[in-house]
Amino acid sequence: MSTPPLNELEQIVGADHVLTDADAIAPFCEDWRGRRHGLARAVVRPADVRQVAEIAAWSQRHRVPLVPQGGNTGLVFGGIPDDSGQAVVVQLGRMNRIREIDTVNAVAIVESGVVLQTLQQRARDAGLFFPVSLAAEGSCQIGGTIATNAGGTAVLRYGNMRDQVLGLEVVLPDGRVWNGLRALRKDNTGYDLKHLFIGSEGTLGIVTAAVLKLHAAPQARATALASVRDFAAALRLFQLARSRAADVLSGCECFTEDCRALVETHAPHVTQPALRGGVYVLLQLDAATPEIPLEAILESVLSEGFEQEIVEDAVIARSLAQAEQLWALRENITEAQKRAGPSFSHDVSTPISAIPAFVDRCLTALNAIDARLRPIVFGHIGDGNLHFNLLAPAGADATERHALHKQVETALYDLVEAFDGSISAEHGLGELKRDLIEIYKPPFDLELMRGVKRQFDPANLMNPGKAVRLV
Ligand code: FAD
Ligand code: LAC
Ligand code: ZN
Repeated sequence: MSTPPLNELEQIVGADHVLTDADAIAPFCEDWRGRRHGLARAVVRPADVRQVAEIAAWSQRHRVPLVPQGGNTGLVFGGIPDDSGQAVVVQLGRMNRIREIDTVNAVAIVESGVVLQTLQQRARDAGLFFPVSLAAEGSCQIGGTIATNAGGTAVLRYGNMRDQVLGLEVVLPDGRVWNGLRALRKDNTGYDLKHLFIGSEGTLGIVTAAVLKLHAAPQARATALASVRDFAAALRLFQLARSRAADVLSGCECFTEDCRALVETHAPHVTQPALRGGVYVLLQLDAATPEIPLEAILESVLSEGFEQEIVEDAVIARSLAQAEQLWALRENITEAQKRAGPSFSHDVSTPISAIPAFVDRCLTALNAIDARLRPIVFGHIGDGNLHFNLLAPAGADATERHALHKQVETALYDLVEAFDGSISAEHGLGELKRDLIEIYKPPFDLELMRGVKRQFDPANLMNPGKAVRLV
């Protein structure tokens, strides 16, 4: 392949926004956990949709693959270039304008490079609320959360990113712009094209802007952490909370004692709660009207939980600061795991009712593979979504870890399949799970997915080799 003319990219975005120096582009070629290092010809940073469209047209003319990238917090190497060194990374961080917060229609019109936390804040300033919340919210961008259909800690009440999107503007692989930037709550005029791009991990086009729903801002909030014996008890507490709190229950998260201890060791700045148990359940209630007695509802859930011998101990946050401390414990698990050394991560879901049996079966199977593996199990129990992670045995070298991970993956994902679950509940497929879906997705699903990819990207230049491989 001849060298593509990067000077043409400079003409599109300006020389300052085409990075080619190896040191300058290295951070854009490496994932958040430092597990995958790819290579790129360049990193290009467009300022608007017209520039993105010209970059896509350039990529077609010169047959150069593009890799869209937002905050680079993805966990499956979807926004990282491969090893070929052929691709150009399209980094969308400069497209960070919030074009409008429209309080009458309760929508935000935003560019794809807006950081999630910035949108949350701007919505709050306008007296409204953007509910998608995750530990990476200070870095991840709207385009990335749309492309991965991010979930997070409030899916239970508000749904995931897909549920927030009313309209999208997307640059297609051939450089044409699809303008679906509409704010309609209802529109049944045929196929709903925006949904193809949501969760497509940058393989069908580059999202440049979105119209997102805003919600009534919570006026009251109550948060509690309960300790319970095991996942069966955690599930019973979730059911109890859902039946008593109904639609004011906005979050139900869980983590094991090993997760808590990991945070204590590797994120010592996080304040630890006094209670101890096998599994912890974090409950949050939110109401848009201050009259609803959330704390009383939460107290009655917990006292019923004590009576039914589900709850062993519990603490209710008495201030916003205390609530934030409880959430910090949950939200620092991924960071603590990163600092703890080599580990294997799995983001899986099963029907909610199957969680206790699934966890038991996995622990037994994993222990049989290698009793030195240390399970770090946490996640969104109210959504049936667990991050079933494992710290690798201390002292295992890269070869041993690789072999062990293959065994672990097979055991775990075979059980996911047996429980009719998903091998990627919220992080996507990226490069990491692209080959695994050849095993765990029906061939007909894969055929349809490839058909969609070919329709939008016949030359296979938009994030090729991610999510689904064209064969
Ligand atoms: P990137 O990592 O840059 O990219 C992710 C994918 O989107 C890539 O395939 C990329 O090509 C594509 N992409 C990026 N921008 C665009 C665009 N404008 N147009 C088209 N494609 C694009 N995820 C959850 O769902 N729930 C969680 O609770 C959660 N917690 C997390 C906690 C931590 C600490 C971390 C590090 C990650 C977490 N994630 C979680 C992973 C999650 O996928 C990302 O945080 C986020 O959704 C990715 O956004 P990003 O802007 O960083 O995208
Ligand atoms: C979380 C990420 C890892 O739930 O999805 O913390
Ligand atoms: Zn998660």
